[in-house]
Amino acid sequence: MPSSFLPKTFKKNNAPTAFVVFGGTGDLAQTKLLPALLDLFIRGALPDSFVVIGLSRKPLSDAEYQAFMKESVYRKGHNHEETVVNDFCSHLRYVSGSFAEIESYEKIKTALQEFDDSIKQCTNKLFYLAVPPQYYEDIFEHLHSSQAMKLCDNVGSWSRLLVEKPFGRDLETAQVLEKKLCSLFADEQIYRIDHYLAKNAVENIISLRFANSIIADSWKKEQIESIAIKLFETKDVSNRGSFYDAIGTLRDVGQNHMLQIFALLTMAPSDIHNPQALRQARAKALENLLDQKLDEVVRGQYEGFSETTGVAPESQTETYFKLSFISKDELWKGVRVTLEAGKALNQQINEAVVTFRPIDTCHCGSSDEIHEHRNVLRIQFAPTQNMRLSMWVKKPGFDFVLEEKEFELANEESNDVNSPEAYERVLFDCITGDQTRFVSGAEVESSWRFITPILESFSELPLLKYKVGSTGPDTNL
Ligand code: BG6
Repeated sequence: MPSSFLPKTFKKNNAPTAFVVFGGTGDLAQTKLLPALLDLFIRGALPDSFVVIGLSRKPLSDAEYQAFMKESVYRKGHNHEETVVNDFCSHLRYVSGSFAEIESYEKIKTALQEFDDSIKQCTNKLFYLAVPPQYYEDIFEHLHSSQAMKLCDNVGSWSRLLVEKPFGRDLETAQVLEKKLCSLFADEQIYRIDHYLAKNAVENIISLRFANSIIADSWKKEQIESIAIKLFETKDVSNRGSFYDAIGTLRDVGQNHMLQIFALLTMAPSDIHNPQALRQARAKALENLLDQKLDEVVRGQYEGFSETTGVAPESQTETYFKLSFISKDELWKGVRVTLEAGKALNQQINEAVVTFRPIDTCHCGSSDEIHEHRNVLRIQFAPTQNMRLSMWVKKPGFDFVLEEKEFELANEESNDVNSPEAYERVLFDCITGDQTRFVSGAEVESSWRFITPILESFSELPLLKYKVGSTGPDTNL
């Protein structure tokens, strides 16, 4: 067991826990989940007794799975001591099977029982669906019919289900899925993941808005001119061709991460320490989107996307989108809102930009009648997490000339040891039973109500090609 370097206020749930990872050898498990579990282990934030059971099709023994994960962890750039990584990997077990076959669930139950027998205790169980969405229904049904989530029901232990985004393909499929999920499991067992809600910088939107009078007093339509949310990536879809071709950028990051940021930026003040109230406030902000009328919709695809392995040669899937509207809802009437995201662009920009309205009579310079001086708040989510507020100050000298300067409000390197990575937070919150940073059914429904008509309108919009490493499609063509 590694020595703990947890803050004093940190309360872990130390009840023995079994983690079952559907898609145990997949990309998400390799690059995010297992590394996050390892980091939690190193922090001392995992229960003292735990097991991780990976389920995938590949025929692997426990030892082969442990070696496979060890290699992935080092490939990701971890530089932890080998003894610690070996210690963590000794908790890994493997079950080979298909998500669609009930026999796999019997094998999982056996592995779970072995763990419980080994520590002579009925343990908590966390089932993580790190699989493409087309498998969800099968997994829900089999988990239910096999009673794998009921193994320790009668002894006060819990079983929880973590479901990755995208939850559904559109409003209709999301509603069907939600109905199924809620008919089989209780609400307190369901954790719908949007890892952006677990990012420190995204959470900081709340502290910024509700803990600072200077910002809180200006956070209204009379003072804010526009809100832009950008998620530009330099990475292309790499080895996720077939997953991405079926989904596209709007479903991949628009319907979830970007709308959650939008919700936090525009929600009405609520009791932010009450998970239910906060989730309701976010859901209400998303519901307000339904009145909006878009005045700009652009979609694009980078050149060469259709040659990626797993992508259809004639693919019409977008790898870029831009949506813009002037808000009509009472709270934000007149504020311009823009959401823009893309893959294979020239730079990585992952931020929300809030531009404040200029003041009416600005002492901006001797002869300025019309002036462009605005304060701009940039909340950057990656690669480093920080917030910068631009202000206008006089340049030193005889003349009254202004220059823009930025205050840096928070700057957190992504490898700051005190700050959990988003997937660490997701797993930790699920173990401790805190649903605040998870999406409610109402939020899923409202976001799809807004996104689905846009997806439907895509077939009538040109799919603009853009060069890899460019700023995106040229809309003037
Ligand atoms: C994921 C998307 O949900 O979010 C990816 O599937 C995207 O396509 C990623 O790259 C961005 O998240 P992060 O945490 O890397 O900013």
